[in-house]
Amino acid sequence: MKTLIVYDSKHGIVRDCAEKLEHKFKEKVTVIKISKKKQWPNIDEFDSIIIGASVHIGKIQKSIKDFCEKNLDKLKHKKVGIFLCSLTEPAEAYHYIEEQFPEELQKHAIIKSCFGGAVIFERMNFVERFMMKKITKSSENINNVSEDAIESFVRTFQKE
Ligand SMILES: Cc1cc2nc3c(=O)[nH]c(=O)nc-3n(C[C@H](O)[C@H](O)[C@H](O)COP(=O)(O)O)c2cc1C
Repeated sequence: MKTLIVYDSKHGIVRDCAEKLEHKFKEKVTVIKISKKKQWPNIDEFDSIIIGASVHIGKIQKSIKDFCEKNLDKLKHKKVGIFLCSLTEPAEAYHYIEEQFPEELQKHAIIKSCFGGAVIFERMNFVERFMMKKITKSSENINNVSEDAIESFVRTFQKE
């Protein structure tokens, strides 16, 4: 069973989650960031695909949307899992998945999970720092990524 994790990430939180998933899998996993890639990975080589994105100003990355839409027919023949990072509490963040991933892919995915998110001010530019200080009403870093959600994702994905 060959597994690929494709993700996009602005400040590395989705990347950190993708790497945590990778290390929890029993078998070798390929991890690829797709934002800057002109060419997507050849998903024919993989049996399982995990797709990770994050929310910025209400939207997930266009690279991920495009990847899902353009590969939809192929993805429907793979084992698929979706995870999302956002500052919105996991229980309230599912609407981002429902609204922004293709409906057919959501139905097909064996797991869709919101991991929570993090704000690391040192990784942001001036405008982002300003915006996030206003939104979070704090200049302290935040990390509410759920280790339990990541663990449970791997358990479910490997069991199915
Ligand atoms: C400029 C900016 C805008 C954001 N907008 C939202 C938002 O609309 N909704 C939300 O739940 N989280 C929002 N977040 C929080 C991110 O989704 C969260 O920090 C996530 O962990 C980012 O992951 P990444 O750095 O891997 O892209 C925003 C963060 C930044 C920096």
